[in-house]
Amino acid sequence: MWLILALACNRGPQEPTPLAPVAEPSGPVDNGSATQRKAEGSAIVAAELATKKLGSTLKQRVSGAMKEGGTVAAIPACQADAPTLTAAAGSEHVTVGRSSTKLRNPANAGPEWVQDWLQDNSDKRFDQVTGTSDIVEGEARIIRPIQMEPGCLACHGSNIDEATQTALSAAYPQDKATGYAAGDLRGAIWATAKVQASE
Ligand code: HEC
Repeated sequence: MWLILALACNRGPQEPTPLAPVAEPSGPVDNGSATQRKAEGSAIVAAELATKKLGSTLKQRVSGAMKEGGTVAAIPACQADAPTLTAAAGSEHVTVGRSSTKLRNPANAGPEWVQDWLQDNSDKRFDQVTGTSDIVEGEARIIRPIQMEPGCLACHGSNIDEATQTALSAAYPQDKATGYAAGDLRGAIWATAKVQASE
């Protein structure tokens, strides 16, 4: 009863509809001070650097392990080192990872906004997508698409040799990350970096 009264009182007499606001002239959206924009730019750069660092350290590790002991031996090496290298590519304010709609390691799923992007692009090839850079809730969020290259197919392709397949199935019983061809979109490297107010 009180609620109904309160609502009725709030409404008051019918007021004239305010005029629609005049549209701003189009141009860059000004949503903060120059300092804020600078902090946002730095966060995007920090996130970008983390994705590059992760991409290159992982590639080095895989190709090094393959040269040393062959494809089969490289699988446990990746399993042991990928999580450590992923954590090390981030920092206190930066988190980075790799994800895909077809995961080998379910622990790589990543945040929901990354999974949404992957779902939206799941039927596309690498050269049909572009990455994203956004500022959301005080953090930079970036996505960089990952391409299946010929060198990846020994472990992610559709013609995996028997010994490799055995090693993969043993290490990753839920592996979905096979059947790719060169040029496919394998997934994405994503990163978040906190926008830090500079003094
Ligand atoms: C020697 C085998 C091997 C090769 C070659 C290889 N990968 Fe992988 N890949 C793996 C393993 C093992 C994992 C799981 C790592 C983990 O546990 O995080 C993985 C995981 C991934 C992931 C993380 C998502 C997921 O499914 O868990 C991506 C993305 C990926 N690989 C892309 C690539 C790309 C791109 C290449 C070529 C540049 C490549 N891989 C070459 C074995 C390989």
